[in-house]
Amino acid sequence: MKVTLAKYAGFCFGVSRSLKLVENALKDGVRIRTLGPIIHNRSVVERLERMGACPGLNVGDVLPGETAVICSHGAPESVYLELRSRGIPFIDATCPDVRRIHDIVRECSKEGRIIIIIGEREHTEVKAIAGHTRECMVFENDSELEKWIRSEVFERDLPFAAVCQTTLNVDTWQKCDKILKKECTNCKIFDTICNATLNRQREAARIASASDAVVVVGDSQSSNTRRLFEICSAHCPIAFHIEKADELDKLNNIKSLAVTAGASTPPWIIKEVMSRMSEEKITMETESFAELLEASLKTLNTGDKVTGVVTGMSPTEIHVDLGTKHAGYIPVSEISDDPNVKPEDFFKIDQEVECYVMRVNDVEGTAMLSKKRLDSVKGWEEVEQACEDKTTVEGFVVEENKGGIVVSVKGVRVFVPASQTGIPKEGLLSQLMKKKVKLKITEVNRARRRVVGSIRIVANEERRAASEKVWADIQEGMKYRGVVKSLTSYGAFIDIGGVDGMIHVSELSWKRLHHPSEVLKIGEEIDVYVISLDREKKKISLGHRLAEENPWSKFMAGYNIGDVVSAKVVKLMPFGAFAEIIDGVDGLIHISQIADHRIAKPGDVLSEGQTVDVKITNVDNEKQKVWLSIRELLENNPSTFPEAGEDSGESLPSDGVVAVSEGSGVEIKTESLAKEVELPVSSPEAGVDEGTEAKE
Ligand code: F3S
Repeated sequence: MKVTLAKYAGFCFGVSRSLKLVENALKDGVRIRTLGPIIHNRSVVERLERMGACPGLNVGDVLPGETAVICSHGAPESVYLELRSRGIPFIDATCPDVRRIHDIVRECSKEGRIIIIIGEREHTEVKAIAGHTRECMVFENDSELEKWIRSEVFERDLPFAAVCQTTLNVDTWQKCDKILKKECTNCKIFDTICNATLNRQREAARIASASDAVVVVGDSQSSNTRRLFEICSAHCPIAFHIEKADELDKLNNIKSLAVTAGASTPPWIIKEVMSRMSEEKITMETESFAELLEASLKTLNTGDKVTGVVTGMSPTEIHVDLGTKHAGYIPVSEISDDPNVKPEDFFKIDQEVECYVMRVNDVEGTAMLSKKRLDSVKGWEEVEQACEDKTTVEGFVVEENKGGIVVSVKGVRVFVPASQTGIPKEGLLSQLMKKKVKLKITEVNRARRRVVGSIRIVANEERRAASEKVWADIQEGMKYRGVVKSLTSYGAFIDIGGVDGMIHVSELSWKRLHHPSEVLKIGEEIDVYVISLDREKKKISLGHRLAEENPWSKFMAGYNIGDVVSAKVVKLMPFGAFAEIIDGVDGLIHISQIADHRIAKPGDVLSEGQTVDVKITNVDNEKQKVWLSIRELLENNPSTFPEAGEDSGESLPSDGVVAVSEGSGVEIKTESLAKEVELPVSSPEAGVDEGTEAKE
């Protein structure tokens, strides 16, 4: 007959821990009074009694000089209060998983929630949990829960919080969970089945279904053993529940047998059962209780490298079964240095995981683990290799200090001096914090645990590669989306993806600008096109203003000679007045064309900001100049000009005009007038180098 013993058979870490606490206290000569059976197994309790632990039921049973022990199932808050108020010393052997439930229900009660407990109403654990709530209800299974929900007293919008007994059947919990999610609109649900139970139940179901018969060993008082038997019976037609080896009948015609045991079943009983089924008898007499107990426990030390199995995940930690008495957990911060890490990206339930033991808490029965520390050991080798091969690595910036920043690369701390961060002197290194960066490892000194890196080298390499690509592709007329890198009085430098090009101030806008900062900000993204380029000198001249927005083109498309338009006087000069026809196009009203009589100066009739009707008398498309006249309108309709004087003055030659368009200055058409007028020489950008340089 093939006999399979479940890996998760016998004492769980909670039970082992409570026994260990009692045993140690007895060894130290402490007089013990247990408040209820320390675990649900008669044989273990009897042994403890023989060792000196006296059984009691409540605080009243504790005699002077005795130390009370709260069992692994926990106790209501009132018990703690009574022990404290009476000054009775006590050992709290509550399983850490059960204590966690107490914390949950206490917090939720404070929030004003009604606690729903799914579990055996009369079980010590359930009673203890209830004793930490303000208001609670207990349901033994999904049918009871469903019945309550269908009753008239149920109010779906009340604030609830649901927890379950640590040893509840997983199926029962899943059904309850579904009902609560569907029916309660304001319920916080906590799956509090302990990992040990979960593993035990899963494994029992698996080995039971693969065997002809299954034996469940455990005390009939033990709730988790009863659950285990229920599960095994559901998966295997022949299932036995025995407390001791001698209850086992002859198993005829059975080829494969599975053996599992409840969390409170001691190792020696399991051993007896196994030896009874085996040809090879195993003798128990030579081993003491303490030795057997010790054998069932594996110890953990800080710094140990351990392998465990992921049994659960929450947004803050990963539960790991280490096969020891400790509940292992990896805080999210110990998975990796990536602040955005999600546990599900790294782990799956039932996955094996290697980690380092960071801290062992024997009182709490917990072990804090770290995956990133273990990764860092492997990381050293990878970092050394990266330094040798000059390969690029990635890491997260975890610290900023005086001289630079620290980047965690595969768990190894790499110092990047400020000058190698790529942040300019006046910039803040803090902007890199928690960011993912690429860097080269430039120095590794394992003995001094010193690693130095450079982000700048990678950035320069990337820029060089990008620059080569830009130069390979670039053509005149090509469009780019660029970033404004710097501004000067004559233009702006734009990064078009690894190469800087320059936009001359005159190419930025159709309007006259005094400085590029009037339209651009450093860091801004803008669309640019290539006007010209010099591959040898590595210079690129860019344009930003678009041809279709050219005001001259708009003017030419919408206006003709002879049109009468409303224009705004924008500048008065001794020789005439400039008037804006449309945004960006000004025409000149020569002094001779301002009135139908001779005037001394344009200001006698016109003022800046005034809007006047003018006639377009001439247009030079090539030179982009416009000539305007008020006088021609007055001659056609003299009464429309309020300032008309008596003296009509001498008439000026029709070509004796000055034509102006924005940004192009003015031009004298006749020599006689050239003597009379003082001309504006040029637009602001005149005299500035045409600025077609491109800077890499
Ligand atoms: Fe604790 Fe779970 Fe055992 S709750 S006592 S570890 S069965």
